[in-house]
Amino acid sequence: MNTNKIKHIGVFTSGGDSPGMNAALYAIVKAAEVNDIKVSGFRKGYEGLIDNDVVPLKSHELQKFVHQGGTVLKTARSKRFMELDGRKKAFQTLRINKIDALIAIGGDGTFKGLLAFSEICDIPFINIPGTIDNDISGTDFTLGFDSAVNTAIENIDKIRDTAESHNRVFIVEVMGRDSGYIAIHSGLMVGADAILIPESGKDLMYLLDKVKNYDSEDAFLVVVSEGDEIGAELVSSKIKEVNPNVDLRITKLGHVQRGGNPSALDRMLGIRLGVATVKTLLREKENVMVGILNNQLHLTPFKDVVKQHQVNDELYELLELFGN
Ligand code: F6P
Repeated sequence: MNTNKIKHIGVFTSGGDSPGMNAALYAIVKAAEVNDIKVSGFRKGYEGLIDNDVVPLKSHELQKFVHQGGTVLKTARSKRFMELDGRKKAFQTLRINKIDALIAIGGDGTFKGLLAFSEICDIPFINIPGTIDNDISGTDFTLGFDSAVNTAIENIDKIRDTAESHNRVFIVEVMGRDSGYIAIHSGLMVGADAILIPESGKDLMYLLDKVKNYDSEDAFLVVVSEGDEIGAELVSSKIKEVNPNVDLRITKLGHVQRGGNPSALDRMLGIRLGVATVKTLLREKENVMVGILNNQLHLTPFKDVVKQHQVNDELYELLELFGN
């Protein structure tokens, strides 16, 4: 018998989708079912909360999507939820459906939404950090980051083949918004000649110094994060200023990094964090993000979460050693 106060959980995915979200959904529902808790899914992120677009979730139906990228609940970036009126409608939806607790899977925009929502809504919230950007503090890795990096590597490896054949300079732009994590990880793993990230102020100088002497006898790979203050096009013209003879191409990997089957690490992260949300609610904790730090489950209060995940000294050292 369910003796807990929580009998019915609502769940939604929000912001940019990330591989592993379906695994997390499956784990949430599975963990809830064994505790006699019903789960309803709100479709299209906060939009579904505003519009009462709700579906019952069963673990046996979600099981077959564990391996699939994207999110079966759909997602959105909701402008309406940014307004108080939208949040009030969402609150009504929770009341109509008799939801006792709400679990969100999403990135920093989702957190900001939850923080604002907690001011008018008194049920417990839990968040799973789901974004390919790895830009959230309180967890070593966000859900989807590992898969996105694997996708980036797979594609940059292919670019290297053609770059080597033509002795070309390639600038490959990767996603990450304001965070250089995808660029650092993918750049290091493809043996890039230079890696440019928003967090570093010196990387362009290093790159220009290096490419000045590039003799077009090999490929020269530059991985640049989309959030870097200078951007792929400007990097290209700066390179041509210091070495006018280079044969240069730009490739932007774009949304391909968000799709595809989740990696083993992301499936596992989804399962661990999904189960952790339900356990955390049963321990009567609220308004926390569940993450993994040093391979241990870690809870971070919402107010401490909305901070950029810093690039640590060790990563900077690797960047200087290999990517500068
Ligand atoms: O936050 C995930 C992310 O993929 C970022 O890396 C990127 O800047 C942004 O979303 C793209 O958003 P959209 O899909 O809305 O264009």
